[in-house]
Amino acid sequence: MAETITITDNRTGESIEVPLVDGTVAAKAWSGLLPGVWFDDPSFSATSGADSAITYLDGGAGLLRYRGYPIEQLAQSTSFLEVAHLLVRGELPDGPQLKTWKSEIAEAAPIHENFHKRILEGFRDDAHAMGVLVSSIAAMSTFWPDSKNIEDPDQRRDEIVRLIAKMPTVAASAYRRSEGLPYVLPDPDLDYTSNFLTMMFKTGDSPYVVDPVLRDAMDMLFVLHADHEQNCSTTTARVVGSAHADPYVTVSAAASALYGPRHGGANEAVLRMLTEIGEYGNVDSFMEGVKAGEQKLMGFGHRVYKNYDPRARIVKDTAHRVFDVTGTNPLLDIALKLEEVALADPYFIDRKLYPNVDFYSGLIYQSMGFPVEMFTVLFTIGRTPGWLAHWDEMLTQNSRIARPRQRYTGPADRDVPAIDER
Ligand code: CMC
Repeated sequence: MAETITITDNRTGESIEVPLVDGTVAAKAWSGLLPGVWFDDPSFSATSGADSAITYLDGGAGLLRYRGYPIEQLAQSTSFLEVAHLLVRGELPDGPQLKTWKSEIAEAAPIHENFHKRILEGFRDDAHAMGVLVSSIAAMSTFWPDSKNIEDPDQRRDEIVRLIAKMPTVAASAYRRSEGLPYVLPDPDLDYTSNFLTMMFKTGDSPYVVDPVLRDAMDMLFVLHADHEQNCSTTTARVVGSAHADPYVTVSAAASALYGPRHGGANEAVLRMLTEIGEYGNVDSFMEGVKAGEQKLMGFGHRVYKNYDPRARIVKDTAHRVFDVTGTNPLLDIALKLEEVALADPYFIDRKLYPNVDFYSGLIYQSMGFPVEMFTVLFTIGRTPGWLAHWDEMLTQNSRIARPRQRYTGPADRDVPAIDER
């Protein structure tokens, strides 16, 4: 029997039967019965904003899959570039496809010299790396005006390659600028993540030797961050893209959303929180403050996960492998204690608050030598293929411009008073 919902307008007695498809009912079908009545859902908690074949997320069960593949398997056995291909092209690459994909990305990695001189050099010395990155991505729109041909699939394909390829170059350059270090050009002979680490940390003329454990950890962290269905930044990308803005300003807008501490900025906020707690012995009083509503436990909670975030589990395991190389992070004990206290406390249990992907990732980044201002930049590199996959999917769906309605709560009609009567 077909699954349907019947809704009755008690003002008129009229009923309408609408199908329930994949757990959703089409708002358009309801509005046939209810013209001028809007669905009031300001944070989109109960709204499906897209039909998407990219990522499956079951927050209750703690499941995450990219195009059907479980995140645990992808993290274990695929590189970030393979996952990027999966997201933006629909399938994991075979051997020859991967070879072509890697060389396309490597060729597109350099950035224009003017970009270094005119754009990056224009920021204040103490500019936050995310502010620099967000503005730089938007500025890239002026370097590739053809990117505005968003209806041409070949053009979109080129821009997707460019954005994935250049993101680490811009990110590393933003860091080196803030440190007053000379820029390191991308090396086409290195894999994506080794290249990024080299552009970040190479000093002097001697070759920079990338530790394979740290490279693999970084690459896996990019995989874990690569997509997360209709989160705040991806929704931003789809909304901005629906206006047919070019991909650079679209991705810049998405990165701006990510910058917020409730979203990707949480990894930086977690590190600042752990540093502020300072000592193992301060955990209990800090947690009392959280329960009293004085502050949030950053890196905990999620709109969709009401179970342990599967990414957080993998990040936690990875932390131990990284610390075997770098030495342990002294803040780890505080983080472990916070988690232990939270998972046993009714405040967190009742609200189904568990560690999310941002809880342990900052500890790894810090141990690898990244300053806290770079943490959300790292998230941005990882999430770029996800944003672009959604942008491309949205454009191929022939979507309409995003334009919600509102519940007006302002004053009724009134006359403008003269200035001495205001
Ligand atoms: N610490 C303490 N209490 C919390 C937390 C937290 N981190 N998160 C939610 N709560 C409480 C919240 O106060 C509310 O309590 P009450 O019912 O008494 O009012 C209840 O739990 C439900 O929370 P909510 O505010 O309705 O949750 P939301 O879905 O609107 O917000 C969130 C989700 C991620 C913004 C929020 O959990 C949060 O601010 N967490 C900390 C920031 C963070 O770690 N963000 C990263 C998210 S995962 C990666 C990403 O998206 O980039």
